[in-house]
Amino acid sequence: MCGITGYVGGRASSVRLVLDNLKRLEYRGYDSAGVAVVTPNSPTVTVMKKAGKLANLTGSLGDLAFASGAAIAHTRWATHGRPNDGNAHPHTDCSGRIALIHNGIIENYLDLKDDLLAQGHTFSSDTDTEVLVHLIEERLKTSDGLETALRSALASVTGAYSICVVSEMEPDVIYAAKTASPLIIGLGEGENFLASDIPAVMEYTRRVLVLEDGDFVKITPDQVTITTLEGAPLQRDVFAVTWDVSTASKGGYDHFMLKEIHEQPQTIRDTLRGRVSDTNQVMFPELKLSREQLLNFNRIVIVACGTAYHAGMVAKHFYEALLRRPVEVSVASEFRYSDPIVDQHTLAIIISQSGETADTLAALREAKVKGATTLAVVNVVGSSIAREADEVIYTYAGPEISVASTKAYTTQLVALYLVGLFIAEQENRLGPTVVSDYVELLKALPAQVAEVLKLGPEIKELAQGLSKSSSFFFLGRGFDYAVAMEAALKLKEVSYIHAEAYAAGEMKHGPLALVEPGVTVVCFATQSALYDKMLSNVKEITARDGGAVALVKEGDEGLDTRSVDSVLRIPSTHDWFMPILAIVPMQMLAYYIAAALGREIDQPRNLAKSVTVE
Ligand code: AGP
Repeated sequence: MCGITGYVGGRASSVRLVLDNLKRLEYRGYDSAGVAVVTPNSPTVTVMKKAGKLANLTGSLGDLAFASGAAIAHTRWATHGRPNDGNAHPHTDCSGRIALIHNGIIENYLDLKDDLLAQGHTFSSDTDTEVLVHLIEERLKTSDGLETALRSALASVTGAYSICVVSEMEPDVIYAAKTASPLIIGLGEGENFLASDIPAVMEYTRRVLVLEDGDFVKITPDQVTITTLEGAPLQRDVFAVTWDVSTASKGGYDHFMLKEIHEQPQTIRDTLRGRVSDTNQVMFPELKLSREQLLNFNRIVIVACGTAYHAGMVAKHFYEALLRRPVEVSVASEFRYSDPIVDQHTLAIIISQSGETADTLAALREAKVKGATTLAVVNVVGSSIAREADEVIYTYAGPEISVASTKAYTTQLVALYLVGLFIAEQENRLGPTVVSDYVELLKALPAQVAEVLKLGPEIKELAQGLSKSSSFFFLGRGFDYAVAMEAALKLKEVSYIHAEAYAAGEMKHGPLALVEPGVTVVCFATQSALYDKMLSNVKEITARDGGAVALVKEGDEGLDTRSVDSVLRIPSTHDWFMPILAIVPMQMLAYYIAAALGREIDQPRNLAKSVTVE
């Protein structure tokens, strides 16, 4: 996710100030950085930007390091266009009088860009962002000033943004606006600050306004004005920050893992954004795959590691049900040495959060050598897997800092569901009405995940007792089994308690011998067709004195605390989409058990975020 800082006020070297503040947002992840300042005498906008770490930029500033005046700075986490100098922010209009930084995605940028090109604008980047600054320039021709032009331009864009704009036309002003992406104002005396997150401004002020979606802001050294986009005045309460910097960078949460768990309603929305039409049909403007190519595939192989592999397990169940075509899921480290049966009639789907996992990258190369068409579902833009695959779908989860993957998994699932619906639609397996019904359910997921998150206090209490368990089993059937695998991985990696997932029907073929007091068995019962079978499996556990926790849909009458020790009830959707709702309480359970045991949650022992060795 991009980082934004801004400053208006009288301090010397505002450039250095906004870059220092930006450094405190490095935890958000980025691939390039840039700064713009409006030097006050004979106002001029000066911009400098560089790919790579902030140090690349600060090392190249020269005299600009000492410049004062309204300043904005940005770290870019690439979404549209490679991470290079030209695509870094700020972007400027043709005249160079306006500079803009942006966090988010302008969805209709291609249409806007065509119009602006026809109107004679020239572009110097591949980004969606640059379109907006040219649009402001265009609207200036028919507006009475920058503010009106900016409001008019924003009214024409769809998508998500927080933006900051400086211009030599109003040298002591920063304009800002926010929809889905975060933006705060730090209030000073004779100076004001803007930032994506509170830690950026904490050295200077602890008085903060947290902006809400739809806010339009004008800040000067002495004044902050907040209105709607249409100009109606708004009031935001001043928030007094009492956290330390480390807590603040985690959004007030104790760990990044918990923060990232709570980001999931938003990240799921971000994955869906731009992939669903007004009529609820699935669209992937980024895919070049033709209908003929899709019909040419007689099998799908899915290759990934760890959590991404578990997302692939869910996709296998979904694709086989929907597309009636064989789907094989392989662990990448096995796939690459297995002389896999793959040819030009194979669609190989490669899933990776980092896009750098060595085994997954090698598997991608192996699939390509054998003639498969490769489609990568990746989070990190411009990563090796994204670059080498024939087709890429980004999950837009934003940087995931906790080693234990949470929001990457649920966004991978959303992307994979969309791919399945897209293929089914292209092959005429599903009519528009059915697709629309499924899409409606996907669109409801963010609100449902937000409901699940409310189970936090209940799960925290449950975790206190369960942290004393010697071992865990996670049991499920079908989709639930796939989720059980991810739940077991989550628990073992952050709590260091032994945990295993089993297909529930397999327990009686051996592992049931291990069930005894002290062993906790978590039973998933979210799949209607398999529900009765699952009940029998639960009874097998409780009859052996194992502790049993059930995860069921709200309204389920079959399992209650007469039959198991604890029941977690989650909102209901189509069985296919239940994995997204079912994993969230398990992420929280793993987190709170690890917290109760005092583990190093964000960086568990022996593990790395990106595994770039075999
Ligand atoms: C999950 O919590 C782990 N961090 C790990 O299993 C991870 O999913 C795996 O290493 C794959 O990483 P990738 O998605 O970046 O390829």
